[in-house]
Amino acid sequence: MNFDYSHPRTDVSFGRGRREEIGDVTARHGDDALVVTTRNAMQEAGFLDDVLTSLDEAGVGATVYSDADPNPTVADVVDAVETAGDASVVVALGGGSPTDVAKSAALALASFDEPPTVEEFWGYASGERRVEDALPLVAVPTTSGTGSHVDPWAVVTRADERAKVGFGGDPLVPRDAIVDPEIADEMPERLAALTGFDAFCHLNEAYVARGRNALTDAQALRGLELVNRSLRRSVEGSAEARDSMAVADTLAGFCEATSGVIATHALAHAIGAYEPDVAHGRALASVAAEVARYNVENGDDETKRRYGEIAEALDAPIADRKLDAPLAVDAFEELIADLGIDVSVGELVEASPEELAENAATYMDAATANNPVEAEEEDLLEILEEAY
Ligand SMILES: [Fe+2]
Repeated sequence: MNFDYSHPRTDVSFGRGRREEIGDVTARHGDDALVVTTRNAMQEAGFLDDVLTSLDEAGVGATVYSDADPNPTVADVVDAVETAGDASVVVALGGGSPTDVAKSAALALASFDEPPTVEEFWGYASGERRVEDALPLVAVPTTSGTGSHVDPWAVVTRADERAKVGFGGDPLVPRDAIVDPEIADEMPERLAALTGFDAFCHLNEAYVARGRNALTDAQALRGLELVNRSLRRSVEGSAEARDSMAVADTLAGFCEATSGVIATHALAHAIGAYEPDVAHGRALASVAAEVARYNVENGDDETKRRYGEIAEALDAPIADRKLDAPLAVDAFEELIADLGIDVSVGELVEASPEELAENAATYMDAATANNPVEAEEEDLLEILEEAY
């Protein structure tokens, strides 16, 4: 056995009510914060007020950017940077989109003297420029699904090129994360289902990815057990289950940080690139079972055995992990049906399977290369035709 593993440097403060600590935590990194959030439920529930009060009490000035759309664009990032003033620390209060904008803004604020153009920032998203510096980040997740509060990745969309890409580097790992499940309690049922399914995908993808290692294996399996035990009850509103999903999501972030994602996320990003209004969790739900089927049918013995273990964590009746690996596909389909998020690719997007396969192969090549079974454009097309 031979592997490299870097644990994310994030200090995690976990517990109900701990959002009150955001001021003191943020003050360690700077005295002028850019707070990135969304306009919706967070403000209505008063969490933004809680954060701003805590920052004020700790003597931290705050500028709020609240226009982060779902599937945020590079133009959103440039807007956030123009809002930031003299920010020396960036606070992300939100699910995936605000956190992606916050990370991207932290990168841009440290890397450009003036707000960058879309083209200039795209150099980072496309991988042409290395992520070498960013303002310190503090993440307060409001959903339990992205793992983004402890991982180095940001996802941005460039609408004119229909490109939705993930990029990142160590500077984008938040210094601190405050995981307060009282905030995630406010998620409506559907958001709990869709974001929880994202965490499930990060975990099962990391467990089979080529980039897997023995340490993320342990995190992924434990996370999958928690998802199996808690995701359905979390959707029903159980506070205890929402605590467990916040743990599963954090484990998923650790996994993503080193093991990465596979063809499932590559295809979901292609769908998001064509239809920016489609929630990430829905796009994942439309392809996850077919990617698992493709990998089980074409995978080597180790890949099959791993899908057998995933099925076992999902309580499937496994007698032989390798031979019974196809039960993983059934377990995926059952979970998707139980969560009420069953959907086909064709219901989500007008783009053809050919267009989606080409998009995924072009912009998400790191994820397709990380798939346990070769996933070239023609293979992605085969999966999409089944899922369409
Ligand atoms: Fe994801």
